[in-house]
Amino acid sequence: MFLLPHIQQIKSAIAHRANVDLYVLRLDLIHPWVNGNKWFKLKYNLLEAKQKNFTTLLTFGGAYSNHIYATAAAGNLFGFRTIGVIRGEERLPLNPTLRFAVEQGMQLVYLNRETYRQRHTTALQEYLRQRFGEVFIVPEGGCNLNGVRGCTEIIDTAEFDTICVACGTATTLAGIALSLHEGQQAIAFPVLKNGAFLAQEIDNLLTNYLASGLPAPTKPGPWELVCDFHFGGYAKVNDELLRFTQQFKEAHGIPLDYVYTAKMFYGVMNLLQQGFFSQSDRLLLVHTGGLQGNAGMEARLQTVSSI
Ligand SMILES: Cc1ncc(COP(=O)(O)O)c(C=O)c1O
Repeated sequence: MFLLPHIQQIKSAIAHRANVDLYVLRLDLIHPWVNGNKWFKLKYNLLEAKQKNFTTLLTFGGAYSNHIYATAAAGNLFGFRTIGVIRGEERLPLNPTLRFAVEQGMQLVYLNRETYRQRHTTALQEYLRQRFGEVFIVPEGGCNLNGVRGCTEIIDTAEFDTICVACGTATTLAGIALSLHEGQQAIAFPVLKNGAFLAQEIDNLLTNYLASGLPAPTKPGPWELVCDFHFGGYAKVNDELLRFTQQFKEAHGIPLDYVYTAKMFYGVMNLLQQGFFSQSDRLLLVHTGGLQGNAGMEARLQTVSSI
């Protein structure tokens, strides 16, 4: 019996055969627009911006970015002006993600890919500050120590043995690793090709976080990367993943996004069939949201299939 909100048990024959209990943490239901891991990654960024009296947030992302979408909405909700620096050329009509961002009041600025690559440099950030005035810069994907801090608040229960999460920058995993209870472990599923490099990034994030003196509920607990379920790379899908996503929604009433959560859930189901998890394990799969991106992905898939 769980009193925590948004935890849903999944009745699956595959899990039953593996003698494992499956649960989903429905962060996708936190709020219609600012949900999933975005709520947690943005929380302390917005608080710092408010505390320092900034009135404008500036952030970066691709044209279908969940982070751009959530920052636009969060900025609007909490009284910030927002500027979204978008990778690549402007394409009209705007896709559903960017249309929503503009409706929330976000000003969009486009940088060609080469200039966009400089987004972490002081030179580009100075240029943006000169152009837009005093702005509080939130890095792409909310990937900073404030982001990690927020993600330490995702899991606040010792009820589960293994926490599974999709992984892009690994900010979310780092926060989860810093909040694991005794005996818990975290497994992250990179959605990019060759995701093993993330191990070093995670070590760096954890080291920097601990050195920063920001609050950490626990010492970093054990974590592992499972790199076999990227489906060809970031935002790449195939028919099997599309079928899985559709069947999962029909069977369990839980929609998944194609870029992140579908790959992680598929990976977990596959690992269950391989006997990867210990008998009687209680698994918690973190639904990190991202459902807004499905509209854009489905439109692109339709365009491709009609060519
Ligand atoms: C829906 C969704 N899930 C998972 C992730 C991966 O999070 P992280 O970049 O912290 O690894 C992202 C990216 O932020 C995301 O948008």
